[in-house]
This record gives sequence, C-alpha cells and structure tokens, in this order.
Amino acid sequence: MAAPLARLKLLLALLIFFLSIFISNSQQLHYSEVSALRRIAKAIGKTNWDFNVDPCTGGSWTVPDPVKGPGSAVVCDCSFANGSECHIISLSIKGENLSGVLPWQFIRLKHLQQLDLSRNVINGTVPSEWSNLTLIGLHLMGNRLSGPFPEALTSITTLKNLSIEGNRFSGPIPAGIGKLVNLEALSLSANEFSGKLPSALSKLTNLIDLRISSNNFSGKIPDFVMSLNQLKKLHIQGSSMEGPIPSAISQLANLTDLRISDLRGKGSVMSDLSGMKSLRTMMLRNCSIHGNIPSYIGNMKTLKYLDLSFNNLTGEIPSTFSNLGKADFIYLTGNMLTGTIPNWILKRNKNVDISYNNFEMDNSSPTECLQGSVNMAESYSPAVDISTVPSCLKRTFPCNDHKQYRYSLHINCGGKSTVVNGTRYEQDTEERGASMLFLGSGWGFSSTGNFMDNDIDSDNYIASNASISMPNSQLYKNARLSAISLTYYGLCMLNGNYTVKLHFAEIIFTDDNTFSSLGQRLFNVYIQVINL
Ligand SMILES: *[C@@H]1O[C@H](CO)[C@@H](O)[C@H](O)[C@H]1NC(C)=O
Ligand SMILES: *[C@@H]1O[C@H](CO)[C@@H](O)[C@H](O)[C@H]1NC(C)=O
Ligand SMILES: *[C@@H]1O[C@H](CO)[C@@H](O)[C@H](O)[C@H]1NC(C)=O
Ligand SMILES: *[C@@H]1O[C@H](CO)[C@@H](O)[C@H](O)[C@H]1NC(C)=O
Ligand SMILES: *[C@@H]1O[C@H](CO)[C@@H](O)[C@H](O)[C@H]1NC(C)=O
Ligand SMILES: *[C@@H]1O[C@H](CO)[C@@H](O)[C@H](O)[C@H]1NC(C)=O
Ligand SMILES: *[C@@H]1O[C@H](CO)[C@@H](O)[C@H](O)[C@H]1NC(C)=O
Ligand SMILES: *[C@@H]1O[C@H](CO)[C@@H](O)[C@H](O)[C@H]1NC(C)=O
Ligand SMILES: *[C@@H]1O[C@H](CO)[C@@H](O)[C@H](O)[C@H]1NC(C)=O
Ligand SMILES: *[C@@H]1O[C@H](CO)[C@@H](O)[C@H](O)[C@H]1NC(C)=O
Ligand SMILES: *[C@@H]1O[C@H](CO)[C@@H](O)[C@H](O)[C@H]1NC(C)=O
Ligand SMILES: *[C@@H]1O[C@H](CO)[C@@H](O)[C@H](O)[C@H]1NC(C)=O
Repeated sequence: MAAPLARLKLLLALLIFFLSIFISNSQQLHYSEVSALRRIAKAIGKTNWDFNVDPCTGGSWTVPDPVKGPGSAVVCDCSFANGSECHIISLSIKGENLSGVLPWQFIRLKHLQQLDLSRNVINGTVPSEWSNLTLIGLHLMGNRLSGPFPEALTSITTLKNLSIEGNRFSGPIPAGIGKLVNLEALSLSANEFSGKLPSALSKLTNLIDLRISSNNFSGKIPDFVMSLNQLKKLHIQGSSMEGPIPSAISQLANLTDLRISDLRGKGSVMSDLSGMKSLRTMMLRNCSIHGNIPSYIGNMKTLKYLDLSFNNLTGEIPSTFSNLGKADFIYLTGNMLTGTIPNWILKRNKNVDISYNNFEMDNSSPTECLQGSVNMAESYSPAVDISTVPSCLKRTFPCNDHKQYRYSLHINCGGKSTVVNGTRYEQDTEERGASMLFLGSGWGFSSTGNFMDNDIDSDNYIASNASISMPNSQLYKNARLSAISLTYYGLCMLNGNYTVKLHFAEIIFTDDNTFSSLGQRLFNVYIQVINL
C-alpha cells in the first residue's frame, strides 16, 4: 500500500507545484501570445526581446526610440479573467531596421488593437491571415513591402487608422477598401499605386485625414471627394492625376490642410474655396490654374502657408492679401501676375516669393530683387525688364567691366570654395532658402520653398555628409536643398557653345539594409539662356 500513498504525495506535490506556478504566473501574458511573440521575433529578426521577463512587465520589452516615440513597446491589458490574465493590446517596433517578412502569427494576439512597425525594412506583403485581426490602428509606414494592395487589409473593418505610406505597393486600389468604413486616417502616399481611384473610396465618410501623394494614379481627382466631408487633411501631391481640381472640393468645409500639386492635363479657374474657414495650409501648386487669385483668400485669417506657385494665374495680387498676417510662407512664384508689386509685401517680415511673374514697374517699385525675405527674381515682365528698366540681376552685378565676362563657371553647390583639377569651384554656403535670391560674384541662385512636416523649426537648406569618400569628395560632401524650385544663374557669360556638367552623388539615402535606404529622387533639370 506504500506505493499509492507515495503516488498521492507526488500528485499533491505536483499539484502544489503547478498551483504555485499558476499563482506566480498570475498577471502574466497569456502563454499563447508569448509563443506568438517568439515566432514574430524570428520572422523579423528581433533578437533583443528577453523572454525570461514577462512582456507585460515592460523592462527590456519597452525601450525608447531616440528619433520619435518609443522604439519598441508592448502594452498589455491584464483585466481578463478577473485580473489573472494579460493580453497584448498594442505592439510597436519602430525604426529598428528589422528585415524579414510579416508573420501570420500576429493573429494569435487576439486582443491586439494597435500595431506599429514603421521604419524597418520588412519586405514581402501582408499575409492573408491578417484579415482576422481586429486592429484599430495599423502603421506599416516606411518598409519595403511590395505587390498589390493587400486584400487582407480590406477585411480589417475595425481599422480607424491605416498607414502603408512609403512602401513599394503597386497596382490599383481595390474597391474592397470601401469596407473600411471606420477609417479616420488613411495614408497610401509614396507607393507605386496606379489606375483610377475606386469610387468605393466615397464610402469612407469618417475620414479625417486622407493622403495619396507620390503615386502613379491616372484619371481625374474624382467628384466623390465631396462625400468625405469630415476631411481635415487632404494630400494629393505628385500623384500623377489629371486636372482640373473638381469644384466639388468646395464642400470640404472642415479642411485645415489641403495640398494638391503637379496635376497633368487640363486647367481650370480656381475652385471656390471660400467655405474653408479653418485652412492653415493651402497648397495648389502646378495645377494649371488660370484666371485671377480670388480675393477671399486674403481673408482666410488662419492661413499659415499659402502656395499657389507654378500656375497660370493672372491679374493683380488681391489687396486683401495684406490681411494674411499669420502666413509665414506665401509662394506666388511662376505665374503671370501683373500690376505693380504691392508695398505691403515689402514691409512683411515673413517669407514671400513672387519670383517669375509679369509685374510692372513704376517709380515706387523695388529696385532690388531681394528685400528682406521677399524674393523678386525675374518677377517683372520680360518686356519691361529688358527694354525699359535694367534687370535687377544685372543691376546688382553689372558685368560692365570686361574682365568680369567669362567663358566658364564652376560652383560647389552647398559647399566651400575648392580647387579640383586646377579649376576653382565657387563657394555656395548661403543658409537661407525659403524665398531667397543670392548674388555672388558673377553668379547667383534663386531658391523657393520650405520643408513641411519635418518637425524642424528652422529649415536647413544645405545637406552635409562628412563621411563621403570618393575622388574629389569636397564637391559632394555638401549639397543645396530646395523644396519647390532652385535656379542657378551664370551671369556675365560670353556668347558661345557651353558644356554643362552636373555632378551628382547620393549623400542622404544609404545603400544598405536600414530604413535610411528607403526613398527615391525624381527631378527635372532645365537649361535656359536669358539675355539680360
Ligand atoms: C470574478 O470575481 C467576482 C468577484 O470577485 C466573482 O463574483 C466572479 O465569479 C469572478 N469570475 C471569475 C470568472 O472568476
Ligand atoms: C537603423 O539605421 C539607421 C541608419 O541607417 C541608424 O541611424 C539607426 O541607428 C539604426 N537603428 C537601429 C536600431 O539599429
Ligand atoms: C525579401 O528580402 C530577402 C532578403 O533580402 C530576399 O531574399 C527576398 O527575395 C525578398 N522578398 C521580396 C518579396 O522582395
Ligand atoms: C479567420 O476567422 C474565420 C472565422 O472566425 C475562421 O473560419 C478562419 O479559420 C480564421 N482564419 C485564420 C487564418 O485563423
Ligand atoms: C493615426 O495615427 C497617427 C500616428 O500614430 C496619429 O498621429 C494620428 O492622430 C492618428 N489619427 C487618427 C485619426 O486617429
Ligand atoms: C505610370 O503609369 C503610366 C501609365 O498610366 C505608365 O506609362 C508609366 O510608365 C508609369 N510610371 C511609373 C514611374 O511607373
Ligand atoms: C465639420 O466639423 C464639425 C465639428 O467638428 C462637424 O460637426 C461637421 O459635421 C463637420 N463637417 C462639415 C461638412 O461641416
Ligand atoms: C508640373 O507637373 C507636371 C505633371 O506632373 C510635371 O511634368 C512638371 O514638371 C511640373 N512642373 C513644375 C514646374 O514643377
Ligand atoms: C499655362 O501657361 C503656359 C505658358 O505660359 C502654357 O504653355 C500652358 O498651356 C498654360 N496652361 C494652361 C492650362 O492654360
Ligand atoms: C578631375 O580629373 C580626373 C582625371 O582626369 C577626372 O576623372 C575627374 O572626373 C575630374 N573631376 C572633375 C570634378 O572634373
Ligand atoms: C555652336 O555649335 C554649333 C553646332 O555645333 C555651331 O554650328 C556653331 O557655330 C557653334 N557656335 C559657336 C559660337 O561656336
Ligand atoms: C554618408 O554617406 C555615406 C556613404 O555614402 C553613408 O554610408 C552614410 O550613411 C551617410 N551618412 C548620412 C548621415 O547620411
């Protein structure tokens, strides 16, 4: 009879042992989620999670991100089963350069509401199993995900916030996106999406923030944007769509931030935006808008940023513009505006760029091309400028001494003066650039535009990378940056045939497997002759 007793004792001991494990394990992450985390860690190469520590206790599981917010964080809800069971409700791993693919095991985190994997280098696509997630926020911004728009995402109907910005997704946006009726914020920007926007987008009537910039869409900006009348932010920059801007846009009365640029195709007069009483940012750049600038814009007292550059606007700058006291940046560059340059513009202590227009001159017209932060390079009608009054470029640097004429010009853009192969490259280190005309000795530049959304108060218009190593690296370590347009002028050049050499090096995007390698550049170069 000794044996059963011993067995009973053992059983009791085991029971007590398990009980004690159970008790000491109370308030811990559910075991199924711990094993899911192990699979997830393996799939994306996350090696610094310490599985000896309970993920819900924080510790090594929540480490700060030096760039923005927490780098990696786990948030648990431990109110399950009367406070004895924890589940992950939020998981973020941002800016850690993790590669690999998105594992399906995320669906084992049954209570996950927020997932943020921004700024890694994860490739592949979103697994179809994810359709069972009940996420509220999903941020996959800044990775290398590719292929068509992931169909699984269209089933996560709980989503309020979805960002797949800055990946390599391509092809059309599926009509299924219309199922995501709870969406408040959607960013599809900076991918390679194409085709027409599906009309199903009009079902997303809770959208507050819609961003579809930098894609290869076709067709017009659809009229149905007007059904998205809760929108506060709408960004359609460089998305390859066709004009004109639909007049229906006037119904988006709650907009605070409207950005449309680089529309192809037909132009139109300016849509009626007079109902947008809360606009802080208005960018309608290069949208083939013709006709006059409506005077109500000057009465939009909330405007901080106004960009109507590179349109075909005519007529005078409305006098109401003198009311735009809050606007830190006004860009009317590259239009066909006439009349005289209003005096209040010159008295503003803020950036105004009215370069490349057709203004007329009178006795009170400014004689310099730059006054304070007002850039007026080539702002007068060419007829006026050449025939009756000397160009201010010419006046500032009169080339009347024949020794100043030359056959060659070399500039070290953004850098110091340097000699390469026996040729001197001119120093180009002027720090301003939002609405700037710089005139050096026989050359100059006109720069327009500030960088938005970079969380930097004072923009830097020179990029530097001291660790560039290549022949003549002193020409490449620095570069001039410009947000809208940059023109270099070679003045006092003698007539003849010239060879123009532009030296490029990528000094910001890295060529490795980190998120700093994500990005691409597209730019136009024009070479023109103007006879001053
Ligand atoms: C939870 O606790 C309450 C009161 O403490 C109790 O009435 C209830 O039965 C418990 N439920 C479970 C699932 O343990
Ligand atoms: C990721 O890469 C960037 C540069 O490419 C680097 O600055 C950053 O420290 C890296 N982050 C981690 C967590 O390694
Ligand atoms: C993802 O990256 C790995 C390693 O760099 C590569 O072998 C694989 O082909 C990539 N997959 C896709 C879909 O790009
Ligand atoms: C998704 O949920 C459905 C319904 O609950 C279920 O039938 C299916 O097996 C689930 N899919 C996965 C991959 O878990
Ligand atoms: C969406 O997420 C971003 C980043 O976490 C946040 O800044 C934004 O406020 C969210 N938007 C909405 C509508 O919840
Ligand atoms: C954009 O789409 C057009 C067709 O609509 C195509 O011809 C063009 O090559 C695409 N451009 C890019 C950069 O993918
Ligand atoms: C604008 O916002 C207000 C308050 O946030 C809201 O009541 C209204 O429905 C919104 N839409 C329009 C079109 O005014
Ligand atoms: C205006 O947009 C068109 C179409 O996207 C583009 O080809 C052109 O270069 C842009 N012009 C300027 C001045 O940015
Ligand atoms: C805008 O003006 C340019 C040059 O003056 C002209 O080539 C272009 O056709 C005009 N576009 C529209 C839409 O009026
Ligand atoms: C300097 O001369 C070398 C050798 O002829 C040539 O390879 C290099 O491109 C030149 N550099 C510049 C900036 O012209
Ligand atoms: C410039 O080049 C063209 C074509 O090569 C030639 O016909 C012309 O004479 C050259 N002009 C000068 C001033 O050298
Ligand atoms: C500078 O350039 C080097 C070489 O291209 C690159 O490895 C490095 O990441 C760059 N540094 C920064 C801060 O961009």
